Order: sequence, then C-alpha cells, then structure tokens
Amino acid sequence: MKASCCRLPFFLVILSFSLNDAHMVSDVDPTYGFVEIMLNESNFDYQKPYDTPLDQRYECKNGTHRFWVYADDKPHHLGSNTQPRTEIRILPDYTSGVWQFEGLAFIPNGTSGATIVQIHGAAHGNITALLRIYKGEMRFYSTQVIDTDLYDRWFKVNLIHDVHGGKVVVFINNKEKFKIHDQGPGLLHFKFGVYGAPANISYYMESRWKDVKIYKKS
Ligand SMILES: *[C@@H]1O[C@H](CO)[C@@H](O)[C@H](O)[C@H]1NC(C)=O
Ligand SMILES: *[C@@H]1O[C@H](CO)[C@@H](O)[C@H](O)[C@H]1NC(C)=O
Ligand SMILES: *[C@@H]1O[C@H](CO)[C@@H](O)[C@H](O)[C@H]1NC(C)=O
Ligand SMILES: *[C@@H]1O[C@H](CO)[C@@H](O)[C@H](O)[C@H]1NC(C)=O
Ligand SMILES: *[C@@H]1O[C@H](CO)[C@@H](O)[C@H](O)[C@H]1NC(C)=O
Repeated sequence: MKASCCRLPFFLVILSFSLNDAHMVSDVDPTYGFVEIMLNESNFDYQKPYDTPLDQRYECKNGTHRFWVYADDKPHHLGSNTQPRTEIRILPDYTSGVWQFEGLAFIPNGTSGATIVQIHGAAHGNITALLRIYKGEMRFYSTQVIDTDLYDRWFKVNLIHDVHGGKVVVFINNKEKFKIHDQGPGLLHFKFGVYGAPANISYYMESRWKDVKIYKKS
C-alpha cells in the first residue's frame, strides 16, 4: 500500500489530558476536553494533478507525509479550473459539533502562495478556513497574518471548528494566534498538503506533515 509507512496506530478512543501544563505556562493544550477520533488509511482521500501518478507528488517515509506540486501542474479533475494541489482529504465529512485538526508541519524555504491546511465546505462558498504560507508567513487566505518565520522548522498546527458556535480558532505551537467566524454549516472536512493560491505562488510548493490527528469535543 502506497502509504503504509504512515499507517496510523489503532487507537481506541483516547482522552486527552493536559493536567500538567494547565495552569503553569501560557501555552495551552488545544486538545484539552477533546477526544481523539480513530483514523486509518480508509479516512484518507488523496488528491493530486489528474494526469500524474500519486508517487510523483507524494511520499510517506518514516511517518512523514511529503506533498509537492508545481504551479503548472494540472488540477485535481479534468475540466476543473482550480489551482494544482496534492492534498489529503480526511473522511468522512462532519456537519455539527466541535472538531479539531492537529499536525506538525514543515515548509521548506521557497514554497509560497500555498494553502497547507483548510476546512472545506460551508453554507456560503465552499471554504470555511484556509491557511496559506507566503514567504514564511502563515496567512488566513492572502492577507491576515497568523504567524511569521515558519520556514525550515517544524511547527504545530491546531485548527478548531465549532460548527454550532460558528467559530474557527488557529493555534500555532500551542498558542492561540487567530480566531474568525466561520461561513455557516455544511458538509465539512479537513484537508492538508499543498494547494496553489490564485496568485503570487512559487513554481514549486511543498509541505511535510506528521502526527496528524483529528479530535472531537466530547
Ligand atoms: C478503519 O476505520 C473505519 C472507520 O473509521 C472502520 O470502519 C474500519 O474497520 C477501519 N479499518 C481497519 C483496518 O481498522
Ligand atoms: C524516524 O522518525 C523518528 C520519530 O519521529 C525519529 O526519531 C527518527 O530519527 C526518524 N528516522 C529517520 C531515519 O529519519
Ligand atoms: C530563504 O531563502 C532565501 C534565498 O535563498 C534567503 O535569502 C532567506 O534568508 C531564507 N530564509 C530563511 C528563513 O532561511
Ligand atoms: C463550489 O464548488 C463547486 C464545485 O467545485 C463550484 O462549481 C462552485 O462554483 C463553488 N462555489 C463557490 C461559491 O466557490
Ligand atoms: C500579489 O503580490 C502583489 C505584490 O506583492 C500584491 O500587490 C498583490 O496584492 C498580491 N495578490 C494577492 C492575491 O495576494
């Protein structure tokens, strides 16, 4: 199987405890009060340029997913006018509740104008949240800066979506960095990888991910 090196452990549902650091430091555990959802390969839908084999745009070694794409690659579907992508869509969709994506990301210097994680689906438009890297900065879409100086280092991303509350919160390295209203409920799912922005993109775009987990508030 193409991604067996990234096979996820067979968790029974595990409660996330953070009693140690709860009241001592300014860092928080964004997963406190959430329950981890068991994921396996059947939860991963790989999306890549339609004319290119997956192993020319994705590899998984020693637990690290590596995604890359070129600005002149084809879109995901023949006839689509979207920018090129190599992404994993996490199945199944959610429609209610409070959900959280967590992962460690690495973006090599040079990758720019690339969405690295998003929440797809919404009542208005197709996207609830979209986090991009531009010149080492993480931005919400292309303008609002979430964090800086992220090239060539591993950083932790936690993205929380409260569907009923209509809110999205972004944590980087266990610090709350950004909060915004969502775009209304819908058929929702998390995606991670690389997806070209409409403008100002580097020719080569790459992201690496490990320890990707999904949680739901209990
Ligand atoms: C993978 O997860 C799905 C649903 O989350 C479950 O139905 C299936 O049995 C799991 N497969 C394995 C091999 O554990
Ligand atoms: C494989 O991953 C483990 C855990 O992240 C790490 O400690 C180890 O150095 C890695 N090995 C190689 C060859 O990259
Ligand atoms: C990224 O690469 C450019 C060009 O080589 C260099 O000027 C810049 O300092 C690098 N940035 C980081 C954070 O390493
Ligand atoms: C949503 O996605 C569909 C299918 O890709 C597309 O036809 C439609 O234009 C999109 N809607 C918006 C508001 O972007
Ligand atoms: C692209 O970059 C130019 C110059 O830096 C800037 O003026 C423009 O707003 C950017 N466009 C987008 C969509 O980010």
